[in-house]
Amino acid sequence: VNEMSHNPIAVFDSGLGGLTVAAELARLMPAETLIYLGDSARVPYGTKSLATVRRFALENAAFCRKFDPKLIVVACNTASAAAMDELEASNHVPVLDVIRPAVATALAATDGPIGVIATEATVTSGVYDRLVTQAGCDVLTQSCPLLVPIIEEGRPQDDPIVLSVLSDYLHELQRRRVGALILGCTHYPLLSEAIGKLMGPDVALINSGQAAARAAADLLRRDGLDRQSQRPGLLRCFTTGDPARFATLGTRFVGHVIDRVDAVDTDDLKAALA
Ligand code: DGL
Repeated sequence: VNEMSHNPIAVFDSGLGGLTVAAELARLMPAETLIYLGDSARVPYGTKSLATVRRFALENAAFCRKFDPKLIVVACNTASAAAMDELEASNHVPVLDVIRPAVATALAATDGPIGVIATEATVTSGVYDRLVTQAGCDVLTQSCPLLVPIIEEGRPQDDPIVLSVLSDYLHELQRRRVGALILGCTHYPLLSEAIGKLMGPDVALINSGQAAARAAADLLRRDGLDRQSQRPGLLRCFTTGDPARFATLGTRFVGHVIDRVDAVDTDDLKAALA
């Protein structure tokens, strides 16, 4: 057993969405302690420039390193799109993004065209187009800027506004008969039922958090880094926003009460990188 196996897994996101990834990690690996950083003060990342998101991502990873993690999971598609190569190159611990595992899962699910819905910045990065095309498949990406605020507001999946926004965004993907649809934003699993209904039963919905959690579990097991314990691990959260709001809204994303939320200042994230 590797001596690092008792160290935590660090997870970061622009805010709450990455909690869907943390929930998948906890479900697959209940003994692991998760440190989660949600950069709610600077959310959304999806409408910012890739250069800005890259800087935020590197600062977030630097803060995560303070906890001596055995693995850093970039639980945000936009941060993954903007910075996955830089994050890998600048960290001595393994860094896992949420994009590559989802693309691999989608390629395994269909021979047909692959659809991707994501934030504007993720679509602009062209990462999905590059990875799917390289594998010899057709790809269609659609940015959905209205979805993150709608999800954060907590509207139910059968809300008329949710359905009308989704119908508009999914129209071209339906017409092109994609075989799989990647939910390329860690918020979107909260609308997976509505998206599944609109796309129909023949389209495989790929949850990037689930795919990344499976990749994380494989990686830790392969390196003897998985924590062997009967005692459940903790979920300890930090946010640059309001901890009370984070705890309240976060419950919906993670599916249970969050053990602990602490505030961290964005200046501390910047200082961690300096
Ligand atoms: N969590 C981000 C993502 O997965 C979406 C939210 C944001 O725009 O910051 O792309």
